[in-house]
Amino acid sequence: MIDYCEYDSLAEMEPRHSQLMEAAMQATTTAYAPYSHFHVGAAVMLADGSIVTGSNQENVAYPSGLCAERTALFSASAQKPAQAVEAIAIVGHFQGQYTEASPCGACRQVMAEYETRYGNEITVFCYLNGGRIRKIKGVKSLLPFGFEAEL
Ligand code: THU
Repeated sequence: MIDYCEYDSLAEMEPRHSQLMEAAMQATTTAYAPYSHFHVGAAVMLADGSIVTGSNQENVAYPSGLCAERTALFSASAQKPAQAVEAIAIVGHFQGQYTEASPCGACRQVMAEYETRYGNEITVFCYLNGGRIRKIKGVKSLLPFGFEAEL
């Protein structure tokens, strides 16, 4: 079962969640994307209420770059390892306007591990074209039967 709902606009969301989405929108301005020109912003909400942002960081050796989601999640973990990740918001910006962005498979795998690590579901907010927002309750809905191992 894919557990999600959609909002028509930021105004319909809980204030703390619309603020998270606005932080992701602001974070698109920090993207380094000279190759794709596709700027992605991500904002992570931690259990203490703080927000950590990230953006995609590209490299001329293309696979060396990193998506906005993992930049934000790894930064949050590096700065506040004791704080559970509660939610993440993602938005794209391309040719002068905000656009849809949905996390890639590698970012879903990383999100899944933070759910396991902190023992709570992560709510994922994705900006959709036309200003709608999709809210997905838990990474299991984005990555069913994902890889897990007791190593
Ligand atoms: N990208 C992200 O940062 N997050 C996503 O969810 C999808 C793709 C980045 C990777 C690359 O820098 C650019 O967007 C174009 O693929």
